[in-house]
Amino acid sequence: MFKKLDILDEKDNRLRKVSVDAKLPLSDEYKALVERIITELTYSQIEEYEKKYNLRPGMGLAFPQLGINERVIVIVHEYDDGKFDNYVVVNPKITSSSNELIAAEAGEGCLSVNRNVEGHILRYARVTVEGYDVDGNKIKIRAREELAIAFQHEIDHLNGILFYDRIDKNKPFYSEDEIRLI
Ligand code: NI
Repeated sequence: MFKKLDILDEKDNRLRKVSVDAKLPLSDEYKALVERIITELTYSQIEEYEKKYNLRPGMGLAFPQLGINERVIVIVHEYDDGKFDNYVVVNPKITSSSNELIAAEAGEGCLSVNRNVEGHILRYARVTVEGYDVDGNKIKIRAREELAIAFQHEIDHLNGILFYDRIDKNKPFYSEDEIRLI
């Protein structure tokens, strides 16, 4: 039985807190919650389920978006048509990043922001993320392009940052000559 998650709206100030490290291993309750997040993010990217359950498409969610100010992120990345990889990282840290910056050409979206916010956000083209899986094993992930943007977006949530905070009000858009748009 599929039950939609209650995702906080941008106005909720719990989204603005700096979250604390989560205790490892995650509790059974949190592990079950992670599974629900994976299911919902996956369904949201499959048209049939997106329609059936009236979901907004999204590839990532961070615990603070559920009102839990602990450092856990979940990303479901469609790496090929209809094929998904799940990334669950507890207490993630970006341990290295490329010099090259990119931006999502269409801007970014967020399941907590129920409106379209236009503007380019500079992100590292490649990042290495280290942290722990739900059982407390150390993990290291190398991400690039769209997936790298997703990690940076979700880790921002753990620090109380929403994507539009990073849009430069004096220069919200970049040209292809200035930055690689993906
Ligand atoms: Ni978000």
